[in-house]
Amino acid sequence: MAALEKLFNAEQKHRLSDAVARRVSCRSYAAPLTALDWASLSYAAGRYQMPGARLHLLRVDESLFTGTLLSTGRVTGCTAAAAVIASSAVSRSKISAGILGEALCLEAASMGLGSCWMTGTYRKKQLSVPLHDGEAVLGMIALGRPAEGSIQPGNRRRKPLERLCRSDVRQWPEELRRAARAVQMAPSAMNLQPWSMDLNGSRFVIDASDRAQLDLGIAMCHAELLLHTPHVWRFGSTWREPAAWADSAALD
Ligand SMILES: Cc1cc2nc3c(=O)[nH]c(=O)nc-3n(C[C@H](O)[C@H](O)[C@H](O)COP(=O)(O)O)c2cc1C
Repeated sequence: MAALEKLFNAEQKHRLSDAVARRVSCRSYAAPLTALDWASLSYAAGRYQMPGARLHLLRVDESLFTGTLLSTGRVTGCTAAAAVIASSAVSRSKISAGILGEALCLEAASMGLGSCWMTGTYRKKQLSVPLHDGEAVLGMIALGRPAEGSIQPGNRRRKPLERLCRSDVRQWPEELRRAARAVQMAPSAMNLQPWSMDLNGSRFVIDASDRAQLDLGIAMCHAELLLHTPHVWRFGSTWREPAAWADSAALD
């Protein structure tokens, strides 16, 4: 995987970390994207690159979206979306896909647009996305101008940090507490928040099961935006190791 720690420049980190607190899933859209919105999102979708993962922006019909999970309601008024694509030929491509998709959601939030990740409530057969050998669409991100009142960050339901962190988060350096809070605000499938975090010597650990690779990428994207101390992301290769961690001597 190309280095996550090199994905964002300082300006992007600043802008997207501000958007972390504003982004919530939007399922009710008032108007199509303007030509300028479309151009900006296309540019962002093309700029965020990692091996084995990519985003493809497309026009969609509202009928693409189906009924509800968690009684959240069907997506309405949406005419644009991004397909989140990963290649089975590249290791950790699902994690990369989660990172790229979330970067796009935060770009959208920073432009005042709404977004909603979707892996379940859309008609997969209705989609026509050009794919290369080995690629699959892992999910869609609905995009558009939110209807009035449809974005309410105050309503976010999240596990307390104490449950997400394996050690006492109050003892962690401020930078890591902020990164942990950013992970806490991240979206996840069915809002399961399948992560645990820890500080282990020089390692800021984010763990998640193999079944939650997209969610892991999303959490890593949020953490990366709040990490300013030089670090390197590493991945576990045996079941004894956590899924991922940011390693930095300066975190110790
Ligand atoms: C990988 C992933 C898949 C999701 N799939 C769906 C879906 O199929 N339908 C839906 O309505 N919401 C879906 N969501 C949105 C989550 O339900 C939502 O992110 C979560 O409840 C947290 O709420 P928030 O995004 O408003 O903070 C998905 C989110 C993620 C990250």
